[in-house]
Amino acid sequence: MPSYSSILGTGSYLPRRVVSNQALTDELAARGVETSAEWIKTRTGIEQRHIAAADESNVFMATEAAKRALASAGADVANVDLIVLATSTADQIFPSAACGVQAALGARRAMAFDLQAVCSGFVYALTVANAMIRSGQVANALVIGSEVFTRLMDWSDRTTCVLFGDGAGAVYLQATPEPGILGCDLHANGELGCILNADGRVEGGQVVGDPFLRMDGQAVFKQAVSVLGNSATTLCESLNFPLQSLDFIVPHQANVRILQSVAKKLSLRPEQVVVTVDQHGNTSAASVPLALDVAVRSGRIQKGHHVLLQGVGGGFTWGSVLVRM
Ligand code: UT7
Repeated sequence: MPSYSSILGTGSYLPRRVVSNQALTDELAARGVETSAEWIKTRTGIEQRHIAAADESNVFMATEAAKRALASAGADVANVDLIVLATSTADQIFPSAACGVQAALGARRAMAFDLQAVCSGFVYALTVANAMIRSGQVANALVIGSEVFTRLMDWSDRTTCVLFGDGAGAVYLQATPEPGILGCDLHANGELGCILNADGRVEGGQVVGDPFLRMDGQAVFKQAVSVLGNSATTLCESLNFPLQSLDFIVPHQANVRILQSVAKKLSLRPEQVVVTVDQHGNTSAASVPLALDVAVRSGRIQKGHHVLLQGVGGGFTWGSVLVRM
């Protein structure tokens, strides 16, 4: 009786429209917002981002990523028991984006729900799916991160609007006799909710509160470096897994300087850190599965490699999942 779970396939989708720092800077200048391609590149590492068109909904992107994960695993959609979709930018209040994906895929057997832990959403979703597989409740799961964060941007706020992009990533997870997922470590501190939030809601037919994403960038930066380093150490120690045995880390892609600081803290070489923030910007819950898919498809991450996936963001939430691919 299999009692572990393993990632058997990965997939991703990026919107067709690519916007370089220069193109974004020009667009913002036309609105009277002053920034520069150089500032964005130097302070964040971002060079471009993908921005979803009206027909590239959260569900559409998630479905495309899921199809690619199923294809790379050689899996049949009819066998999917569970779809967990991590997002903070679903297309509608309800039904969930996961149910939209279930319908679009024709995954009739699957239960489906969304999970909201902002930029930590994917590691939270992977932890939940892993637990459901380990308990024997399901055998085959699609775990997806899909976001259209550009729809939450206040385009007059240069401290946030240059940072985010859209996209989706997915993994196909299956029950296996050997792990797979070696361990998970999740945390939250709701007292820090105010440093990264979008506090608006729909009430009485109107948006009440601030509908845009707001962030205290420096506070988030400091927290991120500290908690990602601690989570990696805690998880590896609890599993008796030496940090030196890690092949790669795939952290949440918010700022290349955060990734460099975490790598330094963990004494990892730069080439062990998967970086896609330069190409994708910050895609919140989609960033980790997107980066994982890029690294797998390029042949960098291979079967048998030990990979640490890490999320951090609004809530405040953070966590790590250690995987043998
Ligand atoms: O996904 C969830 C996780 N999110 C994150 O991890 C984000 C974490 N935070 C960060 O990545 C960084 O804090 C930012 C990229 C958001 C900001 O970088 P920073 O080096 O912390 O910049 P800062 O906020 O200290 O601002 C430095 C200066 C300020 O000007 P003054 O006060 O020194 O004159 C800002 O007004 O840069 C200015 N600035 C900009 N200038 C040009 C802020 N945004 C921009 C901009 N273009 N877009």
